[in-house]
Order: sequence, then C-alpha cells, then structure tokens
Amino acid sequence: MKRTGLLLGLIGGMISGCACAQAPAGNAKMNAFVGNLMSRMTLEEKIGQLNLLSVGFDVTGPELSKDVEPKIRQSQVGGILNTYTPAAVRRLQSLAVNESRLGIPLLFGLDVIHGHKTIFPMPLGLACTWDPEAIERSARIAATEATADGVNWTFSPMVDICRDPRWGRIAEGAGEDPYLGLQIARAMVRGYQGDDLSRSNALMACVKHFALYGGAEAGRDYNTVDMSRIRMYQYYLPPYRAAVEAGVGSVMSSFNEINGVPATANRWLLTDVLRTQWGFRGFVVSDYTAIKELSEHGLGDLPTDAKLALQAGVDMDMVSETFLKYLPELAAHREVSESMINQACRRILEAKYKLGLFADPYHGCSEERARREMLTPANRQAAREFAEQSFVLLKNDRHVLPLRKSGIIALVGPLADDQRNPLGSCHAAGDWQQAVSVRTGISNVAGPAVTILYAKGANLVDDPALRQTLKAFGDDIAVDARSPQAMMAEAVAVAARADAVVAVLGESFSMTGEAASRSHIGLPVCQERLLQALVDTGKPVVLVLMNGRPLTLTWEAEHCTAILETWFGGTEAGNAVADVLFGDYNPSGKLTATFPRDVGQIPIYYNHKNTGRPYQGDPGDKFVSRYLDVPNDPLYPFGYGLSYTTFSYGEIQLSKTRLTGDETLLASVSLTNTGERAGEETVQLYVSQPVASVTRSVEDLRGFQKVRLEPGETREVTFRVTPEDLKFYNRKLEYDWEPGEFILRIGGDSSRLKSATVHWNKRKTPTKSQ
Ligand code: BGC
Repeated sequence: MKRTGLLLGLIGGMISGCACAQAPAGNAKMNAFVGNLMSRMTLEEKIGQLNLLSVGFDVTGPELSKDVEPKIRQSQVGGILNTYTPAAVRRLQSLAVNESRLGIPLLFGLDVIHGHKTIFPMPLGLACTWDPEAIERSARIAATEATADGVNWTFSPMVDICRDPRWGRIAEGAGEDPYLGLQIARAMVRGYQGDDLSRSNALMACVKHFALYGGAEAGRDYNTVDMSRIRMYQYYLPPYRAAVEAGVGSVMSSFNEINGVPATANRWLLTDVLRTQWGFRGFVVSDYTAIKELSEHGLGDLPTDAKLALQAGVDMDMVSETFLKYLPELAAHREVSESMINQACRRILEAKYKLGLFADPYHGCSEERARREMLTPANRQAAREFAEQSFVLLKNDRHVLPLRKSGIIALVGPLADDQRNPLGSCHAAGDWQQAVSVRTGISNVAGPAVTILYAKGANLVDDPALRQTLKAFGDDIAVDARSPQAMMAEAVAVAARADAVVAVLGESFSMTGEAASRSHIGLPVCQERLLQALVDTGKPVVLVLMNGRPLTLTWEAEHCTAILETWFGGTEAGNAVADVLFGDYNPSGKLTATFPRDVGQIPIYYNHKNTGRPYQGDPGDKFVSRYLDVPNDPLYPFGYGLSYTTFSYGEIQLSKTRLTGDETLLASVSLTNTGERAGEETVQLYVSQPVASVTRSVEDLRGFQKVRLEPGETREVTFRVTPEDLKFYNRKLEYDWEPGEFILRIGGDSSRLKSATVHWNKRKTPTKSQ
C-alpha cells in the first residue's frame, strides 16, 4: 500500500500545481498526473505498460503467458486478462502496486460478454429482444458483478455485423443489421461504463473486433476478409463508430485482413478512420497473439510485426509479448520513434487514471461485495425476463403452444436436462451448477397437474471425431453410453404415452462461438433422426431449439407442430423456456439474423441489392438472379417472430407526401391486437430509395418500436422520419442524402410490410445574384 499512498499524494500535488490551463479541468489533472508519472518511467517501463498477459481461470487463446509474477515485479506488465475473484486480483495487483518500482496498477480484463456470474442470453439472443434498454440493464448488471469480482475491463461489446451463420461467432454479435447493431453497441457501452469510470461498479468496455471480422470468407473463423469501402462504410462500420461515439474506453483490433493489410497492422483503419475520422481518444489493444500472427499473414519477422502494429496504432499487445521483446531494440535503432511508445503508454495510463486505479488499484472489489452483489435474486429475475424476451417463436400450428398446465408431456432431447450448455460459449465466470435446465424449469412452472416423462433420446453428436474436437473447448457434451437405437426407442415409447412432445435439440455451446465454424448448419444427424422418429409417433411435437446461430430447418419447419428458438438463454434459461411453453410469458422476440433454407444461399440477408436482373417470382424467368434448386427467399426473414396473439396492421398514414429539406415526416400505422391474449409487437420501419447515385439496399431498417397491446386494443404507432434517416455513403464516401422518391415500409418483419411513397427534395439554396 505504501506506493499507492505516494501516488495519491502525487494526485493531490498535481491538482494544485496544474499548468494545462486550456484543457478541461478533469483532463488537465489527468494530463499532469500522467505526464509526471511518465517523466519518471524508463523506456522499458513504458513498454511494459503495453504488455497484456493471460493467466488465471479461463483459456481463451492458443497459449498462456509464462512467468507472470516476476514480470509484474519487473514492471513488464500493463494488464492481465482472465484473472478474476477479489483474492486472485488482489494478489497480482498488490505485486504491481507494492513490488514494482513505480507501483503502477494493472488493468484486469475478461470476456464479460453476456453477464459475469449471472449469465444472460447470448448476444444474438439478447439482440432478438429489440430492446436496447434491457440490453443496457444487462450490461449494467454484468458490470456490477464483474467489478465486485475484481475485473475492471471487459472485452465487449462485440459488434461485428455478420451475414454468414456458418461463422460460429455470429452468436456473440447483434446479427446482420447496422442500425439495430449500433443502438445495441451504444446501449452496452453505456451499461458497462456508466458516466464515470472511476465508480467502483464501472467497467471499461472494449469494442471489438475492429474491423469487419464478421465478414470472414466462407464463414471460416480467422479467414480473409475482402470488401469494398462502400460496403464497409454502409453496413459494417456503423456499430463500431457508435461505440466510439458513446465513449468506449478501448478498441480491439481484429485478426483478419482488410484490403490486403491485417487490421492489426492497418494504419488506415486504426489511425485514419478510428482516430482522425471518428475522434477516438482511448487505447487500442490487439486481439490474442494477433501481433505475432502478422508473420503468419506474411508481413515479415517478429520485429517487423512489432513495428507495423505500433505504427498502425495498436497500443497494447495481447499475449504475444512482441512489443515487450522487440520495441526496446527497435527504439534503440530508431526503427520506431520513442514518441510512438510514449503515446501508447500515455493512452494506457490515461485509461487507468480514468478508472481511478491510481486512487484505488482494487477498484472497490472485495469478497464481501462479491457475495452481496453477484447472482442476487434480482439479477436472476432480470436474466429470466431477458431470456423470455429473447426467444423467437418460429412456428405454432393449431395453437399447440402454449401448453396446458395439465396432462402428460414427453420431454425429450440431449439438451432437455442439461445445465451446462444454456450458458453459451462465452460464459465468463458463469457457474453451470447455478443454471436452470429446461427439465427443472418445467417442473418449477408446470404445476402438479402436469406429468413429465423424460427421455434423453440421443446424444448431442454421435461422430466420435467431432466429439473429440469439441472436447477441447469445454466439458459440455455428456455422453450417454447406450446405443442410439436404445435411446431413441425409449424416447419414442415415452412420446407414445404423452399428449405432446417437447424436444429440446440443437448445438452444444462448443459448436458455437470462437473457432467453431460449421459448413452444415442443421441439427446434428443423430438429433435429426430422433426428431423424425418423434414426428412419426403422430403426437404434436414442439421443437425447442438451443443453438448459437441461425440453423437450416426446412424439414423441421414442415414437420414439427411448433418451433421455439431459445438460443443459449443463460442462467435462467430453463425457467424462461417453461414460462414461454406454458404461456406465463407470451413470446415477443424477433430474429436479427436471417435463417436460410439452405447453406448454398449464404450469405443471405434482408438488406441486399436489387441487382440488374432481379427475380420477380415467375419460375418461367430464365435470365434473372436466382437459384434453380432453392428459392431466393429465406426460411425465416430478418425481423420475423410470432406471438401467441396476432396483430394486424392498418395502411400507412403520412403527414405529407412531398417534403423539402429538414422537414420531419410522420408515418403512422394503426396496430391492433386481434387475438385473445395481451402481447408485444416490435413494429419495424424500413426505408428504401429506388433511384440514387449508388445502388441501395432493397430496404434498410430505420426505426422500431415495441408496443404492448391488450386483446382487441388498437394503437397508433408513429415514426418520425428526418433526412438523417435517408442518409447513406455516396460515391465519395460522404454520408449524405439525395433527393427523390422514398418508399417507407412498416410491419412486423422485413418481408411482410405495408408501404407508402414520399418525394423529398433538398431545399434550394438561394444563389448570390438572387
Ligand atoms: C477473441 C477475443 C477475446 C480475446 C480474449 C480472442 O481469442 O477473439 O474476442 O476478447 O480472445 O479472451
């Protein structure tokens, strides 16, 4: 503690002696403090600040760091990832503040992606709530828990737009749409950071993976990305930018290349776009070992990697220790300038200052706080609510759902009685023993008049080679030693005695997330066989899906009576599933990523271009943009999701049909709940511009509102549209709008919409002679 006391004294001194008169008061103090500290640091100590090491409880990359404790003592470490709990954090932090020369505290980072101890639905599921406020609350709770547990920095939000469900990491983002994605990015940054990072429950956010990581070719993780500038600006960059504008403290550079230069060595990206165009003031951290992977990309040897990354704008090196090893020599030979090292070091020290770590290196974590603030009943209740809201009802024939709270239900499937998988692939400190399985959830919710007959029916996967590969990622596949035939026979027998079958099928969490790309995105074969056998019993089959990506479900969509997509729902998944199955909650989630019919349609997304030869639905048309063997349209479109009630939309009413300049257009529909239950509908507004100087999407989401209606109730839902909603990137990559005709579409998903047309002109600017 001795050194912390000294540093606190220094802060006091700086406050009175500050010379930066023009800087805002807070910044002036920080600048003076950091400047003073840096004046006492050696070059090696500054380089030490750029070094981020991985040690502790989680393994999130191909290697772990060695000799971490001596390196901390020798001032060679700026931060640690994957260590948490007050005791573990205190141990390492006290080495830094008490036993290193200047006592500079460490950052403690962790992938707190959808909750820390209380796990919320995986991010793609959370996005399906279409509720940025709920998402912000989930991030706030995650921040409170994580900081109580010693973490001060999260590698979240992940805002990579993705149009390819083969990519396992589609689970970690908000889906395919930039407009929704940017709202969620903002909400998460606000939720984690609050308005003052020095508060003990504020968690510094890190937006990732900058940039375009979701555009990996063929959906294969870490693969090449190649994309036109206009596509980047229009569809992929907006969510990162929104996070920057919301004040995100750090940015993570991605593994992939962009225009032939890996992001981690890409000065255009990390400096010109991020800092010059967007005004980012925080620091950039590489992804895991990404700096030394520049050699694998083919950019040169390790010293070259260090030089290119620093010069591009990377400030902190995650795990590869390339900065630590090579920057001293590169600086000595003037191959990198000391001022660049100073700049990177300053940015990291500023983050520590903003987090208040020089005043309290432990950021208020304690065993007592951890006990009090983690996994509280209120947090669990929030997790249950968010999970309910994240589920998407894909099909519901003959109103088979909700189930009655009486009779016999056959509960079948490898995920029905499973506590591990609902936590998903990025479950931070989540404890599966605290998670609620569907089986337990049903017994909590169904009541005494329901008899549950359970049979596992199949293993998650039968292929031994795949099982072996998946094992490397976690212990999520409990294998039943019985033969597939014996398991299936038991399930069929149970189904035969029941009024309805609930089959809980899908992916294991290790089949999703990082390094988990799949080329076939259907149910694993053994589960498909089980489902077919269940359908053959003639009983109504409710398919409850747990999975991390859009799946191909054409057979299932035809043969199952109902389908409920529940993603990986988190700690309270089982209770939430039961709430929805028995109608205690009326499902309201809407898809944020398109479900293809077939892998061959990928990439498939709602905001596609028209092309010069669009297919208009006439099967006799030959020279048009279509497939011979599969329709163009998806199985389930973006924005889609059913409810136990039904909604009807009136025609769009416009406040005007001709507008000029900065006017505001009001576009309304009347929405009626035409069913017999109260329910929520997400009303979506899409805008398209059929004629412009560059080709435009067939439609772009530009607004949404979640509306709750009682049975029979009608409400006027109004959107305010301004020229801001008409903007796009033009040929010069300027973000502007062009006058002309606009089609406004409003409805309950991207494919079933009411439409109306307006003309919007630019205001004539008077010329001088007038
Ligand atoms: C992932 C990042 C993650 C980091 C630290 C990497 O492998 O790509 O998303 O934040 O590891 O765990």
